[in-house]
Amino acid sequence: MIGKYEITDIKARQILDSRGNPTVECWVKTGKGTGIASVPSGASTGKHEAVELRDGEKEYNGLGVTKAVKNISRIEAKLMGHDARDQDGIDRIMMEMDGTPNKSHLGANATLAVSMAVCRAAASSKEGEVYDHIGIIYGARNFVLPVPFFNVINGGQHAGNALDIQEFMIAPIGAESFSEALRIGSEVHHSLKGILHSKYGVNAVNVGDEGGFAPPMKKSKEALDALVAAVKKSGHYKKVGICMDAAATSFQKGKKYKLDGKVMDAEGLTEYYESLAAKYPIIAIEDPFGEDDYDAFAMLTERIGENVQITGDDIFVTNNERLKDGIMCRAGNALLLKLNQIGTIIEAFDAAHLARHAGYSIMVSHRSGETCDPFIADLAVGIGCGQIKAGAPCRGERLAKYNQLLRIEEHDLPYAGMDWRKKGVE
Ligand code: PGA
Ligand code: ZN
Repeated sequence: MIGKYEITDIKARQILDSRGNPTVECWVKTGKGTGIASVPSGASTGKHEAVELRDGEKEYNGLGVTKAVKNISRIEAKLMGHDARDQDGIDRIMMEMDGTPNKSHLGANATLAVSMAVCRAAASSKEGEVYDHIGIIYGARNFVLPVPFFNVINGGQHAGNALDIQEFMIAPIGAESFSEALRIGSEVHHSLKGILHSKYGVNAVNVGDEGGFAPPMKKSKEALDALVAAVKKSGHYKKVGICMDAAATSFQKGKKYKLDGKVMDAEGLTEYYESLAAKYPIIAIEDPFGEDDYDAFAMLTERIGENVQITGDDIFVTNNERLKDGIMCRAGNALLLKLNQIGTIIEAFDAAHLARHAGYSIMVSHRSGETCDPFIADLAVGIGCGQIKAGAPCRGERLAKYNQLLRIEEHDLPYAGMDWRKKGVE
């Protein structure tokens, strides 16, 4: 007799992501349920991230993932008959099979697709919610709906404009509920569209990879001014904070940074961020410095970390060891959590637990190349971290996450809100 949670079949296929590049989809069947999941892909990928296995053949300009798909057949052979609830055991079997520190053998795209599909299959086998099952694996029951950070102006490597900073986000920290937060995000996004259209013309409202506008701006202040104007015009100024992802590795030149037409050292850039945080209602800055610049992260955290969340993405890459180094020197005060940076749910949870113990906040994140899989919505609720970034409230693959949070809201869960160290918005 086949057990209800027993894995009976695993299949994988190559599908396309939101940029039209191949990615991996995996399907896991148990005695009683099924789970399907697909993995996202970054563009401003940190050099310390786990390896996304690509074919390197002529098809899809080298970006095919058929080798990763084949590796899932090998994984299937090891996992048949295993209990799908044993996420820890399953992820560790894949880590052992891979045997490398960065998943370069099987590919993090192969291991993560299985890891997520197994998690969904377990939830489906008990006819339960994915976020609830994630809560069991993570060891949390304080489910909250996260504050959404909407990336409404795109620059850097996500857009064809001259903005150095990659993402300018609005976060409805003062909303009463997630649905109100989503409405505020949508209304500000549309106000912004009107402002950009009248100031910069029709081309300014084309959107970048994450659904935000990609206007022909040159300097960060232009983007921040437009955001403030849009938030005010929509009547939500008291409820909204601003966040930036500088993705600063992309404008780092040796020990210097070239931002907004100026070449600065880490000290100069720290002062520049301080001045922006004093002028605008900035509640969080992600990757303000390059991916190995721990000292600069620590300097900025010391200067403004009381009032502003300093989030590490490319520097920590959801990796325990790198986060440990950061905690030791007080670099940043928040972890950006991206499952595909590390390649299994269990390893990402190790990093999340470490962050929590060190008093760091956690923001769950999508990638710039996405699918319509809403897994990260359940993930953010399941670990109760209170923050998610999934792009603008625009484009299907971004809305898939926000709309899933609307469904979860019907379970009467509270909205996290954010009283970011009292800083804020007047
Ligand atoms: P990526 O960008 O998915 O292209 O890496 C997202 C981010 O930097 O946060
Ligand atoms: Zn980032």
